[in-house]
Amino acid sequence: MATILVTGSNRGLGLEWVRRYAADGWRVYATCRHPQQADELQRLAHRHANVTIHRLDVTAADQIAALAAELRDRPIDLLVNNAGVYFEQWDRDPFGSIDFDAWEQTLRVNTLGAVRVTEALADQAACSERRLILVITSHMGSIADIGSPRSYAYRSSKAALNAAMKGIALELRPRGIGLLLLHPGWVSTRMGGDAAPYAPQQSVSGMRQLADHFRMEQSGRFYRFDGVELPW
Ligand SMILES: NC(=O)c1ccc[n+]([C@@H]2O[C@H](COP(=O)([O-])OP(=O)(O)OC[C@H]3O[C@@H](n4cnc5c(N)ncnc54)[C@H](OP(=O)(O)O)[C@@H]3O)[C@@H](O)[C@H]2O)c1
Repeated sequence: MATILVTGSNRGLGLEWVRRYAADGWRVYATCRHPQQADELQRLAHRHANVTIHRLDVTAADQIAALAAELRDRPIDLLVNNAGVYFEQWDRDPFGSIDFDAWEQTLRVNTLGAVRVTEALADQAACSERRLILVITSHMGSIADIGSPRSYAYRSSKAALNAAMKGIALELRPRGIGLLLLHPGWVSTRMGGDAAPYAPQQSVSGMRQLADHFRMEQSGRFYRFDGVELPW
């Protein structure tokens, strides 16, 4: 049975990844910070015996190590680094009153969190059949795409994530592990808000297509959910 692990899977895009792969009979390791409060995820796990819920705050090195130990020798075909935060609002934190504590926390989650999880679970990816790691980044991490001010913390956290993961893709290639950087589009989640044009289902469908048709020469490249390659 193919296996997927998703971070930040209690709501938004993460929950949609779980829903989709659970329905298709994959073995799903659904991770989130607070399993007891993850009501929707709990209901899903009750309906699908192939879904298990695991506590994981991606900023907590001890929790990452504990999960890696728990899943030792278990293959992970698809590792989805999805957890993320965007504390800024377009009209908040202007230059002159930047919240540097929030910026540091953004880097801890969006950048270091995804790298820590990837490093800790690379062996499980290596021993799987599909050997694919997805990194949910953002077009806002594209330096080429910056056309307006603000969102310095979020943009820089995703740009740093892109830079680190492009290198990690090279590191993992000799082990037969592929890695894709994916922008999910502007999606109606708590982060994306109600005005977003895409539903989580559309975004995950597109990203899943890319995962399904992945070729090793795409490893370390940056794509929008609909397959358009994005500039760095
Ligand atoms: N929605 C968009 O338009 C959009 C656009 C571009 C990129 N993205 C990216 O897509 C990914 C998913 O975003 P989303 O729209 O689904 O956002 P969301 O609805 O706000 O969900 C974010 C998820 O990340 C989890 N999370 C936050 N901090 C965490 C931590 N320290 N450890 C583990 N999990 C943590 C949250 O868990 P809690 O409930 O515990 O906080 C939640 O499950 C993010 O990486 C985001 O940057 C989204």
